[in-house]
Amino acid sequence: MSADVIEGCRLPVLRKNQEDEDEWSLAEILSVKESSGNKLFYVHYIDFNKRLDEWVPPNRLDMTTLQSPKKEAKSSPTNGLLGSGTVSPEQDVRRGMQSNIKSVTYPFKEHNFITPKKKSGSMCLASQASPTASKLSFPRATEVEEVSMKRTPKAAIDPKSNGHDDNHLSLTSNGGIHPIIPSKRGRKRKTACVVPEEDSQDSSDGTPPVPRTTGSMAPDCRNDDIVTRMKNVNCIELGRHRLKPWYFSPYPQELAALPILYLCEFCLKYLKSITCLQRHLTKCTLRNPPGNEIYRKGTLSFFEIDGRKNITYAQNLCLLAKCFLDHKTLYYDTDPFLFYVMTEYDPKGFHTVGYFSKEKESAEDYNVACILTLPPYQRRGYGKLLIEFSYELSKLESKAGTPEKPLSDLGLLSYRSYWSQTILEILLNLLNSLNYGERPHITIQEVSEMTSIKKEDIISTLQYLNLISYYKGQYVLTLSEDIVLGHERAIQKRHLRIDPCCLHFAPKDWGKRGRW
Ligand code: ACO
Ligand code: ZN
Repeated sequence: MSADVIEGCRLPVLRKNQEDEDEWSLAEILSVKESSGNKLFYVHYIDFNKRLDEWVPPNRLDMTTLQSPKKEAKSSPTNGLLGSGTVSPEQDVRRGMQSNIKSVTYPFKEHNFITPKKKSGSMCLASQASPTASKLSFPRATEVEEVSMKRTPKAAIDPKSNGHDDNHLSLTSNGGIHPIIPSKRGRKRKTACVVPEEDSQDSSDGTPPVPRTTGSMAPDCRNDDIVTRMKNVNCIELGRHRLKPWYFSPYPQELAALPILYLCEFCLKYLKSITCLQRHLTKCTLRNPPGNEIYRKGTLSFFEIDGRKNITYAQNLCLLAKCFLDHKTLYYDTDPFLFYVMTEYDPKGFHTVGYFSKEKESAEDYNVACILTLPPYQRRGYGKLLIEFSYELSKLESKAGTPEKPLSDLGLLSYRSYWSQTILEILLNLLNSLNYGERPHITIQEVSEMTSIKKEDIISTLQYLNLISYYKGQYVLTLSEDIVLGHERAIQKRHLRIDPCCLHFAPKDWGKRGRW
């Protein structure tokens, strides 16, 4: 019976849900293999994030409702999931995060407001609220109830300008094929990646890398999509951690197939066995990422690595990161990028927690290309710390920045959380700083200048939080009690913060350098 189950079929498959209960979910068969005489099926759960894809035995398949492969399924590689339809990060957040997301909600009960005025095309936020009404000087809930029924004029806040519109993006979305980006002045074209095709990197230092012809290095994604959409690496040992990759990463095939791939946790070189690793460790002198330590507070440090000066390290970091980044292109021309690696120190060295990469010059104002917290450190505030750091760099550059699109589901959650907290902090500080009778007044431009968050992201956050509405001919920001309380609770929990005094960074004008 399981012989009928071939690649492209769809059928219900038993999977563990968030509560660790068995649940039937529609899945697509991506591959079939035999292991010790037993058949195994690689399944992608429709509308769930690809990181939940897995090998399952036949007894987890419900063959009574088997759907044959759809013809058009083979010709739609846009999201790396043939015939599965595009799943946006937004949908992912709502439906696909069942592996570990409990809920992502914001309270919208409206009680209080500050009001904006429209002023020469930009939004000007100024309060109509009586300062005597409450602690935060807001009007009564009934007044706002009326406001919330008014429609926000479309022209004022165009959802297309919210920075999450993927249409204009030049990135691929299938997990590793390179975009065709026309060369721009002062901006290098991002080129195909190259990886040494070796058992390990033991002898690869200084050796010119050899282009691979499979995986994400292939110029045409359609032929090898079946490869890149399946996880290929079983397990990575990195220092004291064992990491289970979520997505395909173009490590050499013979290494990816091993039960465990060993990485030197400091230079990120990959090795085929523990013996090779031990031999490497006797020679490797690094105890921290290469590059300059530009931030240190307590045990937390940031190192800045130039992708042109530390090519092997930068490529190895990208390979590791790709295991957890699906929607991002893997750049192997690392020259145009800087890498900011965050570490935690102990007497054994500076252990990598996460990183983000950044183009030296970005025509699109991107201040982050890829961002990652290694799974053992996730959900402990490090992601927002990386994001905060990226904006501190932008502040020193006197520029507003935005993360490169598309964002992943988890990236979107983290950015939304960071943007919300940062903007609310400013609005509440403004209200708290008012003298008696004074009206708060702030523009989106001013919020952007204070935070280095791009205006589009500020507007999309205000919309997402449902703070913005149109009232009596004016734009109105409504800060509900729930929002304020929720924000205060979140801030109390946010222990990890960047201390700008500990950041030693002087921005460089890469445009003037001619060559990076
Ligand atoms: N489920 C539910 N919520 C989550 C999850 C999750 N698995 N992970 C993070 N969050 C939420 C947190 O609850 C938190 O929200 P809160 O402040 O409202 O509580 C927010 O996201 C940030 O949490 P952090 O602990 O600060 O972030 P973390 O260290 O987990 O890192 C990151 C976030 C970097 C996105 C991480 O999940 C990751 O590395 N993912 C894989 C790579 C990736 O997707 N990177 C982003 C791609 S987009 C780009 O590169 C521009
Ligand atoms: Zn090493």
